[in-house]
Amino acid sequence: MLRVTLRQLSVFEAVVRQSSFSRAAAALHLTQPAVSMQIKQMEETIGLALFEQLGKKIFLTEAGRELYHYSRLIAQQLEEAESVFDRLKGVDYGNLKLSVASTANYFAPELLAAFCARYPKITVSLDVTNREALLQQLAHNETDMVIMGQPPEGHDLVAESFMRNPLVVIANPGHPLAGQKKIDLPRLAQEVFLVREPGSGTRSAMERFFEEHAVALRTGMVMNTNEAIKQAVQAGMGLAVVSAHTVALELETGRLVLLDVEAFPIMRFWYVVHRQNKRLSPAATAFKTFLLNEAATLAKPLPTEAGAPSGQAARRRRK
Ligand code: PGA
Repeated sequence: MLRVTLRQLSVFEAVVRQSSFSRAAAALHLTQPAVSMQIKQMEETIGLALFEQLGKKIFLTEAGRELYHYSRLIAQQLEEAESVFDRLKGVDYGNLKLSVASTANYFAPELLAAFCARYPKITVSLDVTNREALLQQLAHNETDMVIMGQPPEGHDLVAESFMRNPLVVIANPGHPLAGQKKIDLPRLAQEVFLVREPGSGTRSAMERFFEEHAVALRTGMVMNTNEAIKQAVQAGMGLAVVSAHTVALELETGRLVLLDVEAFPIMRFWYVVHRQNKRLSPAATAFKTFLLNEAATLAKPLPTEAGAPSGQAARRRRK
């Protein structure tokens, strides 16, 4: 029998995920020599190299790719066994591995706080990344479930929507379009838009929308966080389309305003998504039920909904 240990497999997986020995070491709280040693021992046991170095980058060899495949299957089996034991212990126990889109991180912690207060013995690990990376995690079975915009068809996924995700146009309060009523879409073609990185769900929804309305946008800088986008818009570098979830604070303090643009907001939805054949643990099932039944009522009202500050109103109040 192949004498590799589960510990070695998890070190190996970390190196694959991080594409780097040093980043894997940092993620596992180990030293880099300790990580290299584990990989070297595995290579000796197997009798084949697992990685090859080209320039500064490391790549999996064919043997490495095969090992990754089996390593995932083993991890999956163990997780299934764990969830069977959790089921025997009852819903109170267990682990939830949740991954959310960067934009969903503006409401996910609040929901998790309410969930954990109800199930204090469930431990949750939360990963925040963009839409493309979430689809990868689902494909490699590295997560119990994810919160993201509508996933693409045909990936053997179960996706259920639980809350609205309106996309809005934001501007610096001093922008000439601020306060104007019913700005028509072609007028936006004269403005520069700051955009999220390729792979962002917000970005692809925005691109689809303008394409459908035959408006050619001028795009400026590309930024990989909503925070960077908001700062740049505040600094007057351009306009942006973001989820209303991300701007509640800035609208309340009047640092940003929403523009009243025809056909906006773009109405999207948040989905809870998992693999079709995934055996959900009791903790994961409890979280899914919680999201579907309660998330929409627990989350704060959005700036696009009645009773919430729109930015213009906040500015008027301050005058
Ligand atoms: P993102 O999230 O723009 O942060 O990727 C939104 C989504 O999944 O649609």
